[in-house]
Amino acid sequence: MSYIPGMMEADLFGKVVLVRLDHNVVKKGKIKDPMRIDATIPTLLHIFKKGGLPVLMSHVGRPYDKTTGQINISELEGVEPIVEYLSQKLQLRGLIPELKASDGFGIAELGPLGESIARLKHGECDFVYLPNTRWFKGEEAKDERADVFAKNLAGYADVYINDAFGSWQPHASTYHITKYLPSFAGLLMQKEIASLDKVFAPKRPLVAVVAGSKFDTKIGPLAALLEIADHLVLGGVIYNAYLAAKYDINVSGLSQEDVDAARKFIEDSQENIQKIVELPSVVLCQSLQERNDDNWDAYQISDLKDWDQSEPIGYILDADPDVFKMPEIKQIFNGAGTIFVNAVMGFTTLFPEGSMAMYSLIDENIKAVKLFGGGDTIQDFGTYLPGTFALAQNNPQYYFFTGGGAILSAIENRSATGMKPVQALIKE
Ligand code: 3PG
Ligand code: MG
Repeated sequence: MSYIPGMMEADLFGKVVLVRLDHNVVKKGKIKDPMRIDATIPTLLHIFKKGGLPVLMSHVGRPYDKTTGQINISELEGVEPIVEYLSQKLQLRGLIPELKASDGFGIAELGPLGESIARLKHGECDFVYLPNTRWFKGEEAKDERADVFAKNLAGYADVYINDAFGSWQPHASTYHITKYLPSFAGLLMQKEIASLDKVFAPKRPLVAVVAGSKFDTKIGPLAALLEIADHLVLGGVIYNAYLAAKYDINVSGLSQEDVDAARKFIEDSQENIQKIVELPSVVLCQSLQERNDDNWDAYQISDLKDWDQSEPIGYILDADPDVFKMPEIKQIFNGAGTIFVNAVMGFTTLFPEGSMAMYSLIDENIKAVKLFGGGDTIQDFGTYLPGTFALAQNNPQYYFFTGGGAILSAIENRSATGMKPVQALIKE
């Protein structure tokens, strides 16, 4: 039977353990939110306990320029803040090898990594942390250069652990590397996969809420989710595009691509389309502008039933928070066995009310398994409802995923192990 070997079954004693993490939390040289680092600490402690020598790595940002093929190496996307954070938190000494690129196309020469590992073996540091993986030549390559880098890197280690659930793209450090080293799933990866299983084999009814910008990139996951879920609630650009396509209305500020994508989605999903819960009232504006006290009149609460097809409507900025008090909507959330949320309902942080009302309503359902994914969703929950969020951290009915894109990729492939880097760990 096929299975994913977990790191608990790996012999780590005295071994150089190469660990891929998703510590992509540095923005402009500072840590935005350390949640994703904290979530990997059990894995790191386990490696120390088993006498392994950890060589850690993560990508930060998107330094690869698709048009020129160049890699922009900027200090602002370095791993230094992560190493500093981990060193402080664990009271351990981290070392970043002095690896440099000799041209604009990334780091190719790995020699200094060998020197850092020698220092690790001599106890001069407690862990090594590679520079941003996306600074290496071959990391994101679609050709044999990915294997050249993966093989070269593997030459410095004995074992590979993937604990980077959020890093779902099949790159050298998440995917190709598994061909060259005995490979295992980290503790966080195992936990995330087990939690994702709850979306695929849910306690019913399953209510899913998805929002976000750009409809076209989300069609695949949305269609799959509509098959799995009992009810699907939409927000953000996705809801704008859906309403525009379904009722043939002109929503100002919406791109034609998004409307076309929504049309295709509706056509392809005819069998399940009645599972979409249309929030009956929304916050509209005539033109997008900064919200402040002076221009509040520019926003209006509007009922879907009052819309006239011949008139263009403004842009939907948020769900009307009061819809989450309506009995028919409350009933859907209160009756759910599982609630999966990858959704910020409002347009930017200027419109938090819809999300706040919805997250509060979800919290009222104490029996439901509540699964939250996506960096912005989790951050908004923590920012707007800090008390509820703090309690949720220790509530076993809640789970907060460290990835957003990763979950949508798995859903699109209709399996909790649907992401390519996870499939590379599977043993027959
Ligand atoms: C993220 O922050 O979404 C993950 O780290 C993945 O990053 P990516 O979308 O740039 O691959
Ligand atoms: Mg992302």
